[in-house]
Amino acid sequence: MNKKRQFIENLINQMTIEEKIGQMVQYGKVNDEIKKKIRKGQVGSLLNVQGAKNINELQKLAVNESRLGIPLLIGDDVIHGYRTIFPIPLAESCSWDMELIQKSAYIAAKEAKSCGVNWIFAPMVDIARDPRWGRIAEGAGEDHFLGAEIAKARVKGFQTAEKDFPLVASCPKHYVGYGAVIGGRDYNNVDMSENYLKTYYLPPFKAAYDAGALTTMSSFNDLFSVPLTINKKVLRDILRNELNFKGLVVSDWESVEESIYHRVSQDRKEAALKGLLASCDIDMHSGVYDENLKQVIEKHPELEQLIDEAVYRILSVKYELGLFDNPYIDEELHKDIILHPHYRQHALEIAKKSIVLLENKHNILPLHDKNQVIALIGPYANDQENHLGCWSCKGDKDDVVSIYTALTTNLKHTKVLMETACDFTDHYNINIDKALEVAKQSDIVILALGEPRYYSGENNNRINLNLPGYQERLIDEISKLHKPTIALIASGRPLSLGNIKEKVDAIVWTWHLGLEAGNAIYAVLFGLTNPSGKLTVTFPKAVGQIPLYYNHKSTGRSHFPRYIDGDDIPLYPFGYGLSYSQYSYSNLTLVKDHITKHETLKFTIDVTNKGPYSGEEIVQVYFQDHFASVTLPVKQLCAFRKVFLEPQETKTLHFSVNPKQFGLYNENNEFVIEPGTFTLYVGTNSVDVLSTDFVISE
Ligand code: BGC
Repeated sequence: MNKKRQFIENLINQMTIEEKIGQMVQYGKVNDEIKKKIRKGQVGSLLNVQGAKNINELQKLAVNESRLGIPLLIGDDVIHGYRTIFPIPLAESCSWDMELIQKSAYIAAKEAKSCGVNWIFAPMVDIARDPRWGRIAEGAGEDHFLGAEIAKARVKGFQTAEKDFPLVASCPKHYVGYGAVIGGRDYNNVDMSENYLKTYYLPPFKAAYDAGALTTMSSFNDLFSVPLTINKKVLRDILRNELNFKGLVVSDWESVEESIYHRVSQDRKEAALKGLLASCDIDMHSGVYDENLKQVIEKHPELEQLIDEAVYRILSVKYELGLFDNPYIDEELHKDIILHPHYRQHALEIAKKSIVLLENKHNILPLHDKNQVIALIGPYANDQENHLGCWSCKGDKDDVVSIYTALTTNLKHTKVLMETACDFTDHYNINIDKALEVAKQSDIVILALGEPRYYSGENNNRINLNLPGYQERLIDEISKLHKPTIALIASGRPLSLGNIKEKVDAIVWTWHLGLEAGNAIYAVLFGLTNPSGKLTVTFPKAVGQIPLYYNHKSTGRSHFPRYIDGDDIPLYPFGYGLSYSQYSYSNLTLVKDHITKHETLKFTIDVTNKGPYSGEEIVQVYFQDHFASVTLPVKQLCAFRKVFLEPQETKTLHFSVNPKQFGLYNENNEFVIEPGTFTLYVGTNSVDVLSTDFVISE
């Protein structure tokens, strides 16, 4: 028996049933009652507790005062930074930059750890195809291949080993299918086939587990008509047996109890029993396990074995984190860690790479700092708070650089006139005269627009995907002046922009960029950074097109118009994003156009920077399987690469794609590679591609 198993089994052998159940109990509030329970060894983890000193004191209660001295897991929602706030995860995904994304997760873990947190409820790896759903902001967009790569990077970043132990345990969530809530309504039902689940929704989770994630969180939704948290098929059969996940499962907030509101558990006792049977190891905050598991075991003594297995998994995470060696944190450490200048530097770097340039008519951008007047108009003009985005943890608006501050600090010759003009959502309190006056005095107008941060995140769903409040009318009014106009748009989701693109000369999509928002936007506007971000979600033209995603399946009658009053073409497709340079693709060449299903597909492509600026291009590789035993997407991402090119430079890129990428789940939901003809596509986005065919044989 290995050392860890021996240690944990020895501990379990000494535990009373109350102490075992205690490990399965997590609370999100600490009061005297909870402290008493910690002393008795009846609470194994906490969330929402703050500060190194406070957390050390709580650890002392568990370690010094409880009978067996088992330390606490301390969880927190560190979704895109702890105090140094990075772009929202959806924005970061548009950088397609795994190194930078991993580094954000690492820094977030460093900061969180220095304040006593040892468990981070992230990454959120839910595939999201519906921008009405507010939680689309927390994930990596609509594609499962890219989502899996990003999931891996984030898990590795959070769990970076320092002094022999991972910084924190990561918790990929929300297992599983949560992004497919019907109608984009949070907490709603999910209905999908097992084939869909395995093809699209599981891969990022699998990648996160294969990267070593120590824990995972069950989701609020049901799947196959059973709430996830008590779903034996999805938690035991698929997660534990098929995906071979060995870590602990924590419920989402009170979701064990919520099985009652789904009307699948009759009462709290049944909810506890079903949670245990499904292998949900920790009950987050509902108190259902705390109150009922003992009686469940009295009635079904044979189930104590399941409790022992759950406790094993929980203690195992504590062991892996080194908490039995030292659960305490140096209370001075955070002073050297929090908001470290290198962390801010990283926040700037990743913010610049998360920005997506959507329109740039007549190359109006980049701007030049010269003797000119710029009018900066709109609710984001000097805003700090909203760049923090949803789930901003310990982020402080006073740390955020506003657009106005960045422009006025950095520009030497340009005069900037600023006018907020309207609030984000208010239709009435408008200062349009002032906005027009300022615009008239200027050579260029920059409109700083968008959604406020509370429009996305948990249960912040939308019916409309327009710019809220008066903002679209503000664009209308300003556009009548016929001044060169640039729209900066911040959001937590794709918006359907109506005909805004006809009214402005450039659209720069900034998302919610975090602390360095202003500086990143300044760098892109004035060409210090050549924008390189590419969309990881499709932008629809109208809400009625939703869900709209690039990897939809082939159907019959695909040439028939799908709507009477419009089409099903996106406003901006997946993978789209402009640069100040233009990149051309040529010489797509397969090393072999016929491979077996055990061989890697190798090919080369030349990419040339035809523009006047050096820049980074995100080269995207897609494929289509011509015929298969099941319906398949028209196109699927299977590789990508970022390449830096000087003006006029050409690079030949060599790609190798694992044949598994060309596999599928068949009618029996088994993974197979079916021989046949395939098309390979390579290009700058999911639509503009070069192509060639290849064959896979047995
Ligand atoms: C959210 C989770 C989060 C948890 C703890 C829930 O409401 O769905 O994503 O980790 O709360 O704060």
